[in-house]
Order: sequence, then structure tokens, then C-alpha cells
Amino acid sequence: MPFASDDSQSNRSGNPYLFDLPDCKLSRRELLAGAVAGAFATLPFAGCATSSGTRWQGPEALSFGAISPSREDTVRVPAGYRAQVLFAWGDPIGSPQGAPAFRPDASNSAADQLLQAGMHHDAIEYYPLPYGSTSSRRALLAINHEYTDDGLLHTDGMRTWTAEKVAKSQAAHGVSVIEVANTGDRWQVVRPSPYARRITAATPMTISGPAAGVPAMRTSYDPQGVLARGTFNNCAGGLTPWGTYLTCEENWNLYFAASDGQVPQPLRRYGVNAKSSLRWHEHDARFDLAKEPNEANRCGWVVEIDPYEPQARPVKRTALGRFKHEGAMLSVGPDRRLTFYMGDDEVFEYIYKFVTRDPWNPSDRSANRNLLDHGTLYVARFHGDGSGDWLALVHGMNGLTAENGFVDQADVLIRTREAADRAGATRMDRPEWGAVHPRTLEAYMTLTNNPLRGAPGRPGTDAANPRARNVFGHIVRWREERRDPASTRFQWDIFALGGDPQAEDPTQRGNVKGDMYGSPDGLWFDPSGYLWIQTDVSTTNLNRTDYKTMGNNQMLVADVVTRETKRFLTGPNGCEVTGCVMSPDGRSLFVNIQHPGEPAGDRSDPANPRAVSVWPDGPSGGRPRSATVVISKADGGRIGT
Ligand code: FEO
Ligand code: CA
Ligand code: CA
Ligand code: CA
Repeated sequence: MPFASDDSQSNRSGNPYLFDLPDCKLSRRELLAGAVAGAFATLPFAGCATSSGTRWQGPEALSFGAISPSREDTVRVPAGYRAQVLFAWGDPIGSPQGAPAFRPDASNSAADQLLQAGMHHDAIEYYPLPYGSTSSRRALLAINHEYTDDGLLHTDGMRTWTAEKVAKSQAAHGVSVIEVANTGDRWQVVRPSPYARRITAATPMTISGPAAGVPAMRTSYDPQGVLARGTFNNCAGGLTPWGTYLTCEENWNLYFAASDGQVPQPLRRYGVNAKSSLRWHEHDARFDLAKEPNEANRCGWVVEIDPYEPQARPVKRTALGRFKHEGAMLSVGPDRRLTFYMGDDEVFEYIYKFVTRDPWNPSDRSANRNLLDHGTLYVARFHGDGSGDWLALVHGMNGLTAENGFVDQADVLIRTREAADRAGATRMDRPEWGAVHPRTLEAYMTLTNNPLRGAPGRPGTDAANPRARNVFGHIVRWREERRDPASTRFQWDIFALGGDPQAEDPTQRGNVKGDMYGSPDGLWFDPSGYLWIQTDVSTTNLNRTDYKTMGNNQMLVADVVTRETKRFLTGPNGCEVTGCVMSPDGRSLFVNIQHPGEPAGDRSDPANPRAVSVWPDGPSGGRPRSATVVISKADGGRIGT
């Protein structure tokens, strides 16, 4: 979202900077990685998550015709492909409780919004129906609605401000679970469906894990500290092998204010300020720290949702730490213990992983119910020689002691960023999505940008963040020792530097082979090991002279062995391209288009909401709407061919 570069409270921990990595080292390591990827290409698909049985292994080669950059206000895909809008903001989810139609002038009520798609689609995951099948005809989709543009959400924007508007904004946040079916040659939302469900910023959810119930988690609504209300600013996500959804709370700090001006230091470390431009606190006391000082401690977690059980209460899993969670990307170890890679998306923040204590149980789904409550949280330290360490954020280790101000493990988790400062982690250039190669188990993570790298008084470059004023971002990758995701040591290199290789400023040139891009954000491996990359260049940066050649935000796909990259999709004006996932047969690709029509640097003007984009409803439609789009081949073939 547009706020993520705000460094008003960013990391000032004083951790050491690494030295520059010589360019020659990259190419040697890249050759090595390429050889390894080839050698492991015959291993079984280790990332297979929800399904059993035969599964498509991906295209043998990326043979589609790459498309050019674009400034067209539409979704463009290669020749032979088509894009269908499936589920846009305001579309009814198909709840048995009702299906209020979307009103293009944004006059739907908060109660309507509770039964409709939220705003600003982000992560997406696919759950075949029935459970345990590999169906490509019928499924559930879980979709994050990251945040709202209140200039679009309400008829007159924020000109007046009421409890009803706060309730509508809260209802437009969270997650949608919808049932979809492929009938003939089109996907449709099934209405009504017993699975259809909205989870919002007000939905009751259990707090579990080491921080549940401690005094810092208790509020007047919940004196026991075990029952939170709602999830919001859900950015990327993740998937468990037993078919639950992980939704990750990112810029939760922006929603809190302090009417008495008092923001405690642990909250300042997360960027909480005394004022909030989102103004929820004016009509909902739990967002005013003066009235509910602990409410913010109940945000910043990973939330587990069971899409197959519409009555099941979501669970905040505190063992996975508290920060501005981007996503939680699964890697399954040889002993069936699970590792989740997680970014904290803010300038100079860290990369984390969580390793479960116990293996997951493939034969008894219910045995995994609380698997995510026990395990070890680690933070990454990148060394200049291409090695790295995972530092355990465990009370009593790595300086996380009572003498240093950490009372117990719950305190370590509630103050994860401070714990990582103390442990000595490496400050990164805004860690966004991660992705794990299905066979090599190498992990990739986007570092979307950091224009403040090397600025006066700020950290300089280091090996893993090699570019000062890093406007265009890069992608880092690592391989765990013994190829075990639970290892505490790894080897790493930089996969690509974003930016135009012909840019006038040589310090900002990228090294992408093939079609260039900037500010990589979304990242996903298909079953064959092709890496799908989605971009989020800010609207302000898109208008820079040195960016104009790149066009609107887009989606590309890379062969990670050759590094050859091809442009597959370009989005409408003002959008970013967020989550994606394929049906198990590889013939349908679901892609989220977020915030079409976003003006540079601010929320939309309700008097002129169509100034930037009229997608997807066109010139005679209403306001621009975020949406899930399905891409397929006209000949029914597999995506990528
Ligand atoms: Fe919500 Fe880090 O993007
Ligand atoms: Ca964004
Ligand atoms: Ca993101
Ligand atoms: Ca982003």
C-alpha cells in the first residue's frame, strides 16, 4: 500500500552494515544455483499442499509470446489468452443470508458490504472441492482485502465521517471465502454457497500460542486476552498442507491513534503514531490507545482460517511473531516439519522464518489443528561471503534475556522487531512476498524498494541490499544447509536487480535478463518451478522519467535456471498486481488486480473517482474496482504454453 515507505518509526537498531558483494561473485553463485536446480529437477513436488493424486507439473517450456509494456487501462495478456473478471469489489459473495447488488455510486450500506467482496484484493489461494480432491472444476477461493480507498468506498468519500462509514470500511477489510465453479468455459461465483463467508475487521477470532492470555493482550472487550476482534490490512498470505489459509496482518499500525498523544515505545517501533488518517478511532474506541492501550498488541499476527469449515473461528497464531507481516510461505522439511518464510514489509526491516516443533500429520487433519502454536521463530542475518544465519528469537537466547528487558517468550513475540534488533538481524529493503521452489526448496523473496538506503543518517548498502537509493528493488534467494528448511545456516545470492538496464543513472540500472520490471512484490512458483513475479511500482514512481518505459504494473514469469524473464500480463491504470494461483490442471490462472485508479500519493477524489481508471466496468460503468481475474487459453491449453 502507499504507506509502506513511511519510515517515521523505522529501524534504528544500529545493527552493523555488511560490505559490498563483488559483482563477479553473483555470476559464480548463479551458475552454481543453475546446476543445482537442474540436478534436483527429478525430485518429487515437495511443495504440494492441499491435494493428493496426480497433479500437473507445469509447462515444459514457456512458449507464449511475451507482451510489451503498456499504459492501457485494461488487463492485457498474450495472444491466445483471455482474461475474465470473476469477483470485483462489491460483488455479492453468495452468502445464504443475502446478495445485495453492488451500487456503482458506492451507496451500499455497511450491512451490504458485509455480504459483498471487500476492497483491494491481495493474496489468493485455491482449495479444491471436495476437500482432498484435485478438482479444477469446483473450488473455494480465499482472498485478502488489504485496505480501503475511502475516497471510493463512500459516495462522498471522507467529507463527512460517521460510525456507519467506519463500519463500512471495517466490513470492506479482511478476507472473502467464495465458492467458484468452472461451468463450460467460464468460471463463476456459486451463489448461494454454504461456504461463502466474509471475515472482517470486526469478526471474533481466537488468540492462541505463547502470547495468548498474557496481561499485554487483555482488553475491556476481552479480559482474558484470548479473543480478538477482526483482522485488517491483510496483505500476502499462505497455505498449510491441511488446507487452511494463512492471512497476514501488515500495516495495522496505521489504524491506531492516541487521543492523549501518548504512544508507548514498543508501539512506536511498529510505526504507531498519535494520529491516524484512517479515522476509525473517532467512532470505535478500541482504536484509541488512550481508551484501549492493549488493543494494538492483538494486531500484527498471522491468522489461520479454515475455508472448508465456515463456522470455524479464525485463529491468530502468535508463535509466528508480530510485525508487518507480508506473507507466510510454506516449505516442507524431510521430517515433515513445516517452515514458513515471512517478510516484514517496511524499509530496513527483516526476513523471518518459523519452524514447527512437530511434523504435520497427512492422515489426520484434526491432528494439525494447533501445529502452528509450537515452534521456533528465527530472523535472518546475511553475511557478505554469501552465507547466512537464522537467529532464534527464543527467550534466553541471542540476548533476549530479562537483563535486556525481555520478560518471557510472550514478550519476545509481542515485541518481535525489538527482539530481532537485539539478536542482530540484517536490515533489508522492504521484504515483500516469498516463494519456495517446489523441487530445490530454494526460497526467493522480493525486496520491493528502499529509496532511503544510503541516505544521510540511514544505513548504507550491504551485500544483500547492494544498491543505494534502491527505487527499483531486487529479489534475493537462499538455499538452506543440507536442503533442510529447518537448518540454521544458509547460502544466498541475488537473483535479479529491478530497473531499466538502459536507465540514464547507472546506479539504478537493473540486470533482469529479458523483459525488465521494477519493484517486484508478489512472487509465486508454479508446480514446474517457473517463478511468477508481480510488480508494485508506486504511482508516484511510475511517473518518473526513468520509469516511463515500463508501463503499468505487470506480471512476468522467469525461468530461474536461465533467468530468462517474459512479460505475461499488464494491468490497468493505477493498479498493482497482487496474488495469483492456478487450478490444479494448470489451465486457469487466478490473478488479483489491486487499486486500479489509484491517484499518485493519495486516496481517490470522490468528486472525480474515475480520473485515473474506469476498469473493470468501462466508460459507462461506475468507480474503478479491485478484482480477481481468471486467465485461460482460448484453446483450453496450459498456462505458460
Ligand atoms: Fe501490502 Fe507489503 O504490501
Ligand atoms: Ca502497494
Ligand atoms: Ca505486497
Ligand atoms: Ca508493495
